[in-house]
Amino acid sequence: MESPFLKAATPPIEPIQEQIGQQTNVIEIRHLKKSFDDHEVLKDISIEVARGETLAVLGKSGAGKSVLIKCIVALLEPDAGTIILFGKDIAASGKKEQTGLHNRIGFLFQGGALYDSKSVRENLEFPLRNLKIKPSLEEKDKLVVEALTNVGLTDAIDKMPSELSGGMRKRLALARTLIQKPEIMLYDEPTTGLDPITSREISRLILGVQEKYQTSSIIITHDIECANIAANRIVLIRDGLCVASGTYDELENSDDEWVRSFFEWHADHTKATTAMQGKKSAR
Ligand SMILES: Nc1ncnc2c1ncn2[C@@H]1O[C@H](COP(=O)(O)OP(=O)(O)OP(=O)(O)O)[C@@H](O)[C@H]1O
Ligand SMILES: [Mg+2]
Repeated sequence: MESPFLKAATPPIEPIQEQIGQQTNVIEIRHLKKSFDDHEVLKDISIEVARGETLAVLGKSGAGKSVLIKCIVALLEPDAGTIILFGKDIAASGKKEQTGLHNRIGFLFQGGALYDSKSVRENLEFPLRNLKIKPSLEEKDKLVVEALTNVGLTDAIDKMPSELSGGMRKRLALARTLIQKPEIMLYDEPTTGLDPITSREISRLILGVQEKYQTSSIIITHDIECANIAANRIVLIRDGLCVASGTYDELENSDDEWVRSFFEWHADHTKATTAMQGKKSAR
């Protein structure tokens, strides 16, 4: 019999439909507030993500994007508001149930959070310890190879993270998050620090993951090209509030001047960086 771990689209947990019934939103955030002392970072944020949807949350540096994502995975406690995951209100759930819900979420940290003293293989094996049903050695090996194949990094299996380029490190971090086959993926700045070409590759990888595993995702980014490639819908955050929501085309042609100028500035910035990189590689 084929191991449940080796079926591409089958997470090693009960199917989502059984757990959430007809629920179509896997994430619902209502009126979320979070301050640090007298600094109101999130004033009133309401967003939802439908099953299979990829939502990009855009905003300037310091807008509170990472704070938002950390509230979702309970690394930060919101001051007010409701977070509903898979149809369950987190605050009304017991500790064990909360852990169960959070285990179904993969979180790609802004900095990647790799274990630098562990090899690529060991970095990937590490999260497998958290699986409810422990895979055999052979299953572990197949999962590691599958994860590396997904991100085009099979040749690096025995390398150390310090031997990898920035783009390869992002790929490894992505593979390490995906190896547990999460039903929801939260990406915090998956393309930051990468050149535009590598950013595009990572954005396409994220799209590929979504298509292959039917994952629901939130991508936190200020890379509008990444949002255009990988997301179905975009929400813009400004001054602690959601100021716009729509598809890339809708927002790019928004009547709101601030929204349009946000898009124009970032599109020009990407073009300029790509041109500069083209010149460098032509030298
Ligand atoms: N643990 C914390 N304690 C105090 N202030 C914090 C904490 N975490 C975040 N902040 C503040 O909240 C604000 C939003 O931070 P956040 O990291 O969410 O920004 P961001 O939108 O993710 O920015 P970037 O695009 O640069 O990653 C910042 O002013 C930051 O200093
Ligand atoms: Mg951030």
